[in-house]
Amino acid sequence: MSETNARKRLLGPEDLGERVVDPQDTLEDEVYGASLRPRSFEEYVGQERVVDNLRISIDAAKRRGEPLEHVLFYGPPGLGKTTLAGLIARELNANFRPTSGPTLEKPKDLVGILTSLEEGDVFFVDEVHRLGRVVEEFLYPAMEDFQIDFVVDRGAYAKTLKLPLRRFTLVGATTRAGMLTAPLRERFGIVHHLDYYTAEELEQIVRRSANVLGVPIDAGGARTIAGRSRGTPRIANRLLRRVRDFAEVRADGAITTAIADEALEREGVDALGLDRLDRAFLRTIVEQYRGGPAGIAAIAATLTEDAETLEDVVEPYLLKEGFVTRTASGRRATAQAYHHLGVARGVPPAQERLL
Ligand SMILES: Nc1ncnc2c1ncn2[C@@H]1O[C@H](COP(=O)(O)OP(=O)(O)O)[C@@H](O)[C@H]1O
Ligand SMILES: [Mg+2]
Repeated sequence: MSETNARKRLLGPEDLGERVVDPQDTLEDEVYGASLRPRSFEEYVGQERVVDNLRISIDAAKRRGEPLEHVLFYGPPGLGKTTLAGLIARELNANFRPTSGPTLEKPKDLVGILTSLEEGDVFFVDEVHRLGRVVEEFLYPAMEDFQIDFVVDRGAYAKTLKLPLRRFTLVGATTRAGMLTAPLRERFGIVHHLDYYTAEELEQIVRRSANVLGVPIDAGGARTIAGRSRGTPRIANRLLRRVRDFAEVRADGAITTAIADEALEREGVDALGLDRLDRAFLRTIVEQYRGGPAGIAAIAATLTEDAETLEDVVEPYLLKEGFVTRTASGRRATAQAYHHLGVARGVPPAQERLL
């Protein structure tokens, strides 16, 4: 079987296109999701420990009349890091100045922003693990002493010029805390990990979003969408928008369990929130590698997907939910994976088809 045929069989006839359960933000989220972003800490659901601690830090900074210490958020995509950064600025009555690691290509880009910051501004750097090395080194004195160090001339005449900056708060966000360099990590006084949301919290988010969108939804409808959102608010909101479309076209616009079920079924999202790519990933291990171990590169080749994409956006959820385990020799499918796919365990795939 050719690789493409294998892929087709594993994924089913439809092309994958954009994944409705992709936790990373798409243009669609940016355009249609903006109105759903919580506008205050009160509207921000869950992550209570993080929010409580932030409120204390913010209050203390305000009382002292000092800028808030630099804050680092880390955790999987779609859990509310950017939202929190914006809320911090709002609570501080400060300007929110967002940028991201990859867009700060040259020191000049960074210096331009830093010198334009006003006292107390929140300078948000998304994907802060993707800053270039030179840019990052400019950031160290800026974070520590609110100054930029320029080295002028060379050799014996080299000297460092110090350019003072107004005091600001850097809020960094990353999905990969392990990729931050130690000197950068150490410059954040406040570090918070964001974790996946519970089904109840997601239900609350779905209800709130439905309310903002003006869509009627019953308890079952909210529960169905929440249960398939993989612990991730961004996915919950996206699924809600798809279900809403379906409800408007196929029903009277109201979202019930039955409507949500049918709409999500059409999107290829099953009862546990797995989509075609997730199932294809599991099926590859089960069918092509007899349950594993299988290397990520081999799985990626079979699916003609990028190994890094699989590691970043497919595997984490499968690991978390116990569908796969990661061993030194590769990925293994668990009994739960076999059960979910409806495949008997231990029967080699060739024989299975003969049975
Ligand atoms: N705690 C929350 N309560 C309600 N909605 C949330 C929450 N966290 C995230 N969201 C929703 O999910 C979307 C994605 O959040 P975002 O802050 O962009 O995630 P991240 O930056 O971690 O990828 C937001 O636009 C918002 O609508
Ligand atoms: Mg973000």
